[in-house]
Amino acid sequence: MKKAVRVFAPATVANVGSGFDILGFALEGPGDVIVVSATGTPGITIVNATPYSAIPLDPKQNTAGIAVEAYLEKIGSEQGIEIRIEKKIRPGSGIGSSSASAAGAVFGVNELLGRPLEAEALVELAMQGEKAASGAAHADNVAPCLLGGFVLVRRYDPLDIIRLPCPKNLYCTILHPQIELRTEDARRILKREITLKDATRQWGNIAGLVAGLFMEDYGLIGRSLEDVIIEPVRSLLIPGYHEAKRNAMDAGALGCSISGSGPSLFALSQDEATARQVGENMAKVFKKLEIDHEIYVSKINEAGPSILN
Ligand code: HSE
Repeated sequence: MKKAVRVFAPATVANVGSGFDILGFALEGPGDVIVVSATGTPGITIVNATPYSAIPLDPKQNTAGIAVEAYLEKIGSEQGIEIRIEKKIRPGSGIGSSSASAAGAVFGVNELLGRPLEAEALVELAMQGEKAASGAAHADNVAPCLLGGFVLVRRYDPLDIIRLPCPKNLYCTILHPQIELRTEDARRILKREITLKDATRQWGNIAGLVAGLFMEDYGLIGRSLEDVIIEPVRSLLIPGYHEAKRNAMDAGALGCSISGSGPSLFALSQDEATARQVGENMAKVFKKLEIDHEIYVSKINEAGPSILN
């Protein structure tokens, strides 16, 4: 058995506009670095290797600890595990920070123990960490983090996950305004009921986006990045949101929406130069508002987590 595995676990964009809780994709960067090691005594130990952020060190409070505990229980192992977490994805940024730690840790333990489980089985275990972090066991971050590419969660009970194709020239721009938004809070404010008119428009967009990915139809992908249910509510929590979105579209983005529960915005573009210009255009708004921000430009990560040497 290997003694330790060092994993890169990518950031992810959940919802992808219209697909609340059912669509997500993985980025090439940023990503958390998780080192999973075998220890001599049973139990899980968490080590924080992140200089700028405190993380829960109690494994029962830590998303990675909870996911690994569920993993060991599932395979009936009493192996002692140390999980060293170096967070490169800022907590509360809306690009799957808690999911990357949970997904990276179960992926690492699975490698350490000789890969007894398939990636699809790891999704359900990583979701348990997600539940502790946000109050809801949604899979639209952990599934793309573990499987890579675009992923559709067709159904939760039982879990039915479908990997979607990814057009070659798609680039994602993330603008992270540094205001912290807790997923739990951003979920609590959502309306519990929607009109049939909004539902019809939303599922048209979801189907359009999925069709656009299959057909490599960038125009259709762009037209389908419309969310009439969640964005009107959550955008109220993000200062400058509508202006930044307008700026992204002016720079040539195919579409732009909130990444996961926010506050990050994501935009898709058809080439890298446009994706970079989109980031600069969006940033103008946050400069004006004097809100610190970070920009990431990335291709879609089709591989999911990777082993680092
Ligand atoms: N689908 C989840 C939400 C993703 O929007 O609350 C959270 O990152």
